[in-house]
Amino acid sequence: MSTLQTISSLIYLVSAICYVLGVHMMRSPKTARQGNRLSAVGMFLAVITIIVTIIIEGKIDAIGWVVLLVGLALGILYGFVKARKVPMTDVPQLVSLFNAVGGGAAAVIGIFDYLLKGDGASLSVAFSLPVLLDVVIGGITFSGSLIATGKLSGHVSGKPIEIPGSRILNILVVLLILVAAWFMIASPTNVWFVTLALVMSLAFGLLMTLPIGGADMPVVVSLLNAFTGLAVAFAGFVINNQVLIIAGALVGAAGTILTLQMADAMNRSVANILAGGFGTGDSDTGAAAADVPVDVKETSADDIGLQLAYAHSVMIVPGYGLAAAQAQHEVAELAKVLTDQGISVNYAIHPVAGRMPGHMNVLLADVNVPYEQMKQLDDANPMFESTDVSLVIGANDVTNPLARESGNAISGMPILDVDKSKSVVVIKRSMSTGYAGVQNPLFALDNTQMFFSDAKKGLQEIVAATKQYLE
Ligand code: TAP
Repeated sequence: MSTLQTISSLIYLVSAICYVLGVHMMRSPKTARQGNRLSAVGMFLAVITIIVTIIIEGKIDAIGWVVLLVGLALGILYGFVKARKVPMTDVPQLVSLFNAVGGGAAAVIGIFDYLLKGDGASLSVAFSLPVLLDVVIGGITFSGSLIATGKLSGHVSGKPIEIPGSRILNILVVLLILVAAWFMIASPTNVWFVTLALVMSLAFGLLMTLPIGGADMPVVVSLLNAFTGLAVAFAGFVINNQVLIIAGALVGAAGTILTLQMADAMNRSVANILAGGFGTGDSDTGAAAADVPVDVKETSADDIGLQLAYAHSVMIVPGYGLAAAQAQHEVAELAKVLTDQGISVNYAIHPVAGRMPGHMNVLLADVNVPYEQMKQLDDANPMFESTDVSLVIGANDVTNPLARESGNAISGMPILDVDKSKSVVVIKRSMSTGYAGVQNPLFALDNTQMFFSDAKKGLQEIVAATKQYLE
């Protein structure tokens, strides 16, 4: 190994340590920001090392420089501007777009190196196999993630899109990928087979994601994130770059763990997802959707203020509507008004509340809600029975008791047992359903009152009313 290779390997090792420690720090909202920065430092080191290495080795020509500098400039500019401007509610589609870019880039690396090395030469299985896996996984991730981005941003329908004969098409596509794989290894110089593998993988990505409904989308985005990591790791094997292998393996492992946790939280089996047997999560048909609760009791900000002022314990249940209304400051203010008077306030956080993993934690951490007040599902549920008032703000599916029954789109999904508290106040604008398109019988229970309002405006009124009663 040359001195240059030894030095670059050592720097890659430092980068890898930064990633591992960074991911470890992301386990807690307290240290997540530093973890993110540390991982970024690791990535910066790796990129600089790669550029310096290719300069010293003289592996780059004039056109290579143009491609490298223009690519870097565009990537940095887009990433910087987008990350600063993106609203919290649009982060899932941005993550999905990054998955597409990562998977696509990995596939391009594999194809390019295959064409370069396969030019007349016979390639070993040890080279062709990682190229094949890189191209197939990268291709599936690219097209699948673009559809997921479209579905999350509303450019593609969030409803499951059934493709006639999709099962047969799926089998055909998989068979063609296997044929391409066989010939890529048996006849490595024939470029048609790598092209066939790529085209079929792109088709598989489309066939896989189009029939999936919006409610299953978080699991799919997380799964595609794991795929991106795998594709990048295989790209690392193809071009013999350790840092790509390590970073890709980390993303693959983290994405897989997140997929398992998300699937668990939404009661979806990962095996079922991998088999392509999903797509029913957004159904708005069936008994559950037809039963619109009619006998709901409306309440006012004044009445809620009175209830809160006389409560001993309050549980705030945030959901997507809180994020959409950007009402986190008002929530924090209300909680402060109550805790200043010795009233116990906690937040019940469902793992899939909102539109991205950790959405509610991020939102509440942003307004300095103390971490010890944020109760995750398993800790929050035993607390509801002794809670005087549960304040459900823009949450719907994650509180829906229909999940305890069979035969509807959210059957089996673990929920927050809000209905067990003494009094439930729901703040939302109308009787509209949540993401899963299922009506919520919680709204018509005896102990529930509805406050129809935008979360931000409603909370401002509630804060004013509560202060009045606490004076
Ligand atoms: P949802 O069930 O989607 O319900 C949100 C509610 O917020 C809606 O019923 C809506 O009712 C209300 N709302 C919207 N804007 C509002 C505003 N400005 N002010 C007040 N209320 C407002 O949300 P959830 O309970 O958080 O559940 C999350 C759902 O999203 C689950 O089905 C989950 O599977 C899915 N999902 C989750 C993720 C992740 S990873 N968290 C990603 C994608 C999908 P009105 O229109 O009547 O106001």
